[in-house]
Amino acid sequence: MRVGSLQTSNRLRCHSAYLPGEQPKTQGSVIKLNTNENPYPPSSTLTDAILSEIPNLNLYPSPPSVALREEIAQLHALDPNQVIIGNGSDDILNLCVRTYADEKLKIGMFEPSYSLYEVLAGVQGSELIRIPFSDDQFSIEPEKVATCGANLFFLTSPHAPSGRLYSRKQLSLVAQKFSGLLVIDEAYADFASENAVSLLSDFDNVLITRTFSKSYSLAGLRVGYGLGPARVISELDKVREVYNLDRLAQAGALAALRDRKYFQECLEKVIEQRNLVASQFDDFGWLHITSSANFIFVQPKSSEEKVGPEVALSLFEYLAENNILVRYFPKHPQTSSFLRISIGKPSEMSILINSIKSWRQEKQQG
Ligand SMILES: Cc1ncc(COP(=O)(O)O)c(C=O)c1O
Repeated sequence: MRVGSLQTSNRLRCHSAYLPGEQPKTQGSVIKLNTNENPYPPSSTLTDAILSEIPNLNLYPSPPSVALREEIAQLHALDPNQVIIGNGSDDILNLCVRTYADEKLKIGMFEPSYSLYEVLAGVQGSELIRIPFSDDQFSIEPEKVATCGANLFFLTSPHAPSGRLYSRKQLSLVAQKFSGLLVIDEAYADFASENAVSLLSDFDNVLITRTFSKSYSLAGLRVGYGLGPARVISELDKVREVYNLDRLAQAGALAALRDRKYFQECLEKVIEQRNLVASQFDDFGWLHITSSANFIFVQPKSSEEKVGPEVALSLFEYLAENNILVRYFPKHPQTSSFLRISIGKPSEMSILINSIKSWRQEKQQG
């Protein structure tokens, strides 16, 4: 082996990979509230759909996931040529970067946001323009997007990690002022009261990304999609890996999509828990951003009413010791005194709340 002489692309020399939340090896004993998965299993209709596809696995899948594409188009009252299916929505975000960014064409984002954008920009060798939020409520100024000089801009709504929703009106102002492609990452939109899909009839520079990972309980199947102008979709399609979704994923996602009743029931359960946990944090007197997603971004307070990175880290570590995984982002001042907690089942959330109460008591004694 002569690996020693193997050269890595120059642009990857200082590149760091995306750092996903921990996936424990043994699931059972851990309460997993760290990667915004849905706590409920996928629709039971997936079993038959996936099993009946197994005899066909000798054949390649439909390259554009044609049946799924048509049903998603119908769901959003769009034409199938306005839809592209991805191997998770990360796949679509990656296609956007491949297609609309390079060494000269820059990428913009509000910081902090979903950290994959930065990773994708690094791989492509594109300059990343980071726009700070205007305040600690994660407010945005459309003018700053318009003048940032990017060709491609990622805007997360509901925002991650804060859970804040941007109104259609705000998003349409951004789309109006920005001359590049505005990608609205709506991974969590099903948990929100509104979304940006109607902007697609007014703007030809907006692409919306969605995922089956959160609201359809299918993070393990890897299915996402993009909605946008036919012209943009056909450009992305040129870059898409030909068979980016296998037969099982196409069949499974289609079954999940058709089971609207189960989808709705799971959504309602998650939203109900989210609201209960939010009011519990209000009772504690803890600051949290009003969430339109399936997680809550909260600033823990010690029993001496202190907030800050040490307090957030203390609760993060205490919960981990008690087999409750949540997410802590220590690197940015706007996130370092907060924890992001995914919404689980009622039993899991009540264990979480009890653990937080014990932490407060123990820290008071200590
Ligand atoms: C804002 C945001 N966008 C996209 C994704 C990726 O979703 P997918 O599982 O569809 O790749 C995530 C996953 O956590 C996310 O938080």
